[in-house]
Amino acid sequence: MDNIRNGRFKTGMTDEAAEYTSSLEADMLLFEADIKTNFAHTSMLKHEGIISAEIADKILCALDNLKDDGYEALVFDPSVEDVHMAIENYVTSKIGPEAGFMHTAKSRNDQVACDVRLVLRGMIEEIQIGILEFIEGLVEMAGEHLNDIFIGFTHLQHAQPITIAHHLMAHVQALKRDYQRLEDTYKRVNLNPLGSAAMATTSFPINRQLTTDLLGFDAYLENSMDGVSARDFIAESVFDFVLLSSTLAKICEELVLWSTYEFGVIEMADEYSSTSSIMPQKKNPDVAELARGKTSVATGELVTILTILKAIPYTYNRDLQEITPHLWNAVKVTRDTLSVVCKMMLSVEFNVDRCSELAGKNFATATDLADIMVREKRIPFRTAHKIVGRIVNEASEKSMVEEDITSSFIDDIASDLGFDKLNLSDDLIQRALNPAENVKIRAVPGGPAPEMVEVARNNVKEFLNVEFERKGI
Ligand code: ARG
Repeated sequence: MDNIRNGRFKTGMTDEAAEYTSSLEADMLLFEADIKTNFAHTSMLKHEGIISAEIADKILCALDNLKDDGYEALVFDPSVEDVHMAIENYVTSKIGPEAGFMHTAKSRNDQVACDVRLVLRGMIEEIQIGILEFIEGLVEMAGEHLNDIFIGFTHLQHAQPITIAHHLMAHVQALKRDYQRLEDTYKRVNLNPLGSAAMATTSFPINRQLTTDLLGFDAYLENSMDGVSARDFIAESVFDFVLLSSTLAKICEELVLWSTYEFGVIEMADEYSSTSSIMPQKKNPDVAELARGKTSVATGELVTILTILKAIPYTYNRDLQEITPHLWNAVKVTRDTLSVVCKMMLSVEFNVDRCSELAGKNFATATDLADIMVREKRIPFRTAHKIVGRIVNEASEKSMVEEDITSSFIDDIASDLGFDKLNLSDDLIQRALNPAENVKIRAVPGGPAPEMVEVARNNVKEFLNVEFERKGI
C-alpha cells in the first residue's frame, strides 16, 4: 500500500524505529471513535460542498462497512503508524485513491485529540455510573444500620460513638464528590478540537459547528493551537481518578483492619477472601489488599502524564502520543477497582454486637461527660476537660470501667484539682457515658443521630434520582 512517507522520503523507517514510534496498541481503543470522527468530518465536507457528494458517499459507505467488519479488518504493516492511517488505508482499499479526499482539511493532530475526547467522555460516564451504583448500595446498607452503634476513631484511637450508618454515609459523601468532580471535568473533555487541523486550521470553508453537533460535543475549541495540543483534560480526568482511588483505598484499608481478630467488627464474604497454603485457619482479605495496592496506579499515571506534559512547546509534539496509554491504564485500573470494591464492600456483614461493645469501651463517651458539666453546671469546657481527663486517667489506673464512675468519684477528683464539687446525679453521669445516648443527642445536621443520618440518606437518594435520570438509567 502506498503510504504517506513515499513523497518526502526515499525509504521507510527501520522496523525497530517504526515499532518504537507506533501508537497502534493504545490506538485500539480509538478505533470506533476514529470512524465516528472521520464520518462526521466527511459528512461536513460533503454538506459544505468541499468535496463532491458522490465521493463523500463512497467514503461514508466504506466507513460504515468498517464499523461492521471491526478492528480485525484493518491491515497493519510496519509502515502503518497509527489507527488513523490504518483506517484511511482501509477506505482506500475499498474505494481507491478517492479515499484521499477524506483527509481534506484534517490532520491526525486534530483527529487524535478528537478521538481521545470521544472515548474518554464515555469512560468518564461509565465510571460515574459505577460510583452512583456504589452510592446506592451504601445508602441502602446504611438504612439497615441506622441504630447500630459503632465507634469512631481519630488517630485510629477510640474517639466518639457513632453508628455504622453514619460511617457508611461518610464514604457516600466522598463518593458523591468524586462523581461531581468527574461531572465538572466532563465539561472540559467534551469540547471539539476537530477543524484545528495540523495547528492553524485550514483555508477550506469548514463548518466546525456541524462536526460539533454531529459528534455531540458541547462546543468547539476556539484556538486551533490549543485544540491540537491541549491535554489538560486528560491530566484533570486522571486526577479525578486518583481522588476516587483514594476514597476506594480508604474503604479497603478499613476492610482489612475491621476484619482482623483484634477489631472483629466485620465478616468478609468468602468470595472476597483467600486462605493460606500452610495455615489452614486463615481468612485473608487479599482482594481488599490488592485493591488498596492498585489504587496507587492512577497516581503513578498522573505523575507520568504531568511530567510528559510539562514544557512541551506549542503545538503538537509526538510526546503527546505517549500520554494516551497512561490514560487508558489509569481508566482500566480505576474502573476495575471501583467495580470490585463496590461488590466487596456491599457483601460485608457487620458484627453489630462487637461494634456496640467497642463504642462502650475505653471512655469513648468522655466528651459527653465533659459536655454535661458545661451544660448542667456552667463550668468552662476547658475545666471540664481537665476534670474528665483526670477521671479517665485514674479510672484506667484502677481498672475501672464507665459503669464504675459515680458522682462522688468525680467530685473527689474535682476537689483534688482545686475545683468546686459538681454534684452531678449518678443517673445523668451514666446517661452521658452511654454510647447510644451520645449518638441520640448528636442530632445536629451532619450528626450521627439516626434522624439526621436519615435526612442525609434522603438527600442522597434525591441526588441519585436526578443523576440516574440524567444518565438515562
Ligand atoms: N499517533 C499520533 C498520536 O497519538 C497521532 C498524530 C500523529 N501526528 C503526527 N503529526 N505524527 O498523537
